[in-house]
Amino acid sequence: MRRRKIAELLESADFGSEVTIMGWVRTKRDSKGGFSFLEINDGSTIKNIQVIAEDKLANYTKEILKLTTGCSVMVNGVLVESPGKGQRVEIQGTDVKAIGWADPDTYPLQKKKHSFEYLRTIAHLRPRTNTFGAVARIRNAMTYAIHTFFQERAFIYLHSPIITGSNCEGAGDMFKVTTLDLQSLRNEDGEVDFREDFFGKPASLTVSGQLEAEVYALALGSVYTFGPTFRAEDSNTYRHLAEFWMVEPEMAFCDLKGNIDLAEELVKSILAYALKNCKDDMGFFNRFVGKDLIATIDDIITSSFVRLTYTEAIKILSKVTEGFEFPVEWGKDIQSEHERYLCEVVFKRPVVVTDYPKEIKPFYMKVNKDGRTVKAMDVLLPDVGEIIGGSQREDDYETLLNRIKEMNLDPADYWWYLDLRKYGTVVHSGFGLGFERLIQFVTGLSNIRDVIPFPRTPKNLDF
Ligand code: 4AD
Ligand code: MG
Repeated sequence: MRRRKIAELLESADFGSEVTIMGWVRTKRDSKGGFSFLEINDGSTIKNIQVIAEDKLANYTKEILKLTTGCSVMVNGVLVESPGKGQRVEIQGTDVKAIGWADPDTYPLQKKKHSFEYLRTIAHLRPRTNTFGAVARIRNAMTYAIHTFFQERAFIYLHSPIITGSNCEGAGDMFKVTTLDLQSLRNEDGEVDFREDFFGKPASLTVSGQLEAEVYALALGSVYTFGPTFRAEDSNTYRHLAEFWMVEPEMAFCDLKGNIDLAEELVKSILAYALKNCKDDMGFFNRFVGKDLIATIDDIITSSFVRLTYTEAIKILSKVTEGFEFPVEWGKDIQSEHERYLCEVVFKRPVVVTDYPKEIKPFYMKVNKDGRTVKAMDVLLPDVGEIIGGSQREDDYETLLNRIKEMNLDPADYWWYLDLRKYGTVVHSGFGLGFERLIQFVTGLSNIRDVIPFPRTPKNLDF
């Protein structure tokens, strides 16, 4: 018989029909009356389905009684209305078979609650827990919501490269890609001859698909990328990964304001999608992880984001006399403690900070008339802080060339990027949304390592 998904059966009213399910035993309870209750989960939903196995089944003593948490099973049975509390339907088993055993003496996921730290050490089994199953389903739903959002607005999905020869953010925190023998890399002069390497020049994993997205935006109008990006920064924080996923829209004929409008619309739209389409998983996080999670998200969907300039933000923050670890001063970057203070204490809403000093932002941002600030924008959310970073791009050839030189970058590496300003340049803008930070916000999970299947962080590559 065809295997049915538990998510579907729990919604079904097809009582009396014969069904087959396959999944894993979450718990089993043997009743003195000659039958066992099995709670089965197959990953299609956070909910389990209850199976009743009676002792008249031929393999009851030999097999069913020996089932324990983690065993995989196949169940044939009849879907019936449940007389018990807590569930609407259950399966009266007619044939219950063990597929794979899980020795209860060694199976690491017993009934008790495990810490997130412990679960990270068993990343191959943690998706079988409620929390990590729910995270995986929510990641899937949010991916769908993001593609839908852009497809409905006629954005073209662009596959930007993962291996790159340029550094988008202009910082030195990239992973090298090489086929050279690392043991014998340097010649007598202590230098590496990259002409010998696979690409004949230094190559890295990309930190952002933005520069390539600009190429396509200046041909196709509106594009977006959604892929993995890599940063070798040695920051062991609750919101940094060495490998994370980023959504990067890029729009021709769009200025900073249009960019912020789109960012606000995107965030609200995908949060609304989660509330509407991930009810069971969101209900779980609302109960067990993030206090008032659903109410907070509801608030965000219905109120508008605060917009203020960096200079205004510094003015507000510099009035705070205690509690900050990092100093507040015009010209210095806004730290995550400041971001959270603006969102959680001052405005109690998402905040968009614009027009940062050019010294603390990458070379590609459009310089304002004041010559000191750039048309940058960061979207800040409560708890996670910066979730989006973006800007209007410098579209003037000479200004961009000067910025590249000022930042000690080699214009020759950016010849094609400069060309875009030489041939048919237009006002254009874009931003990057950190997908894992979004998932952190949606689930209320405080550590970014718990919202990606296999986290990559410094000194951690066990899976
Ligand atoms: O602000 P960032 O560095 O912006 C860019 O990369 C631009 N090129 C984007 C663009 O304009 N197209 O990164 C964008 C977002 C951040 O706001 C943050 O949410 C996330 O990416 N992010 C990280 N997420 C997890 N781990 C890290 N190490 C991250 N670094 C950035
Ligand atoms: Mg940023």
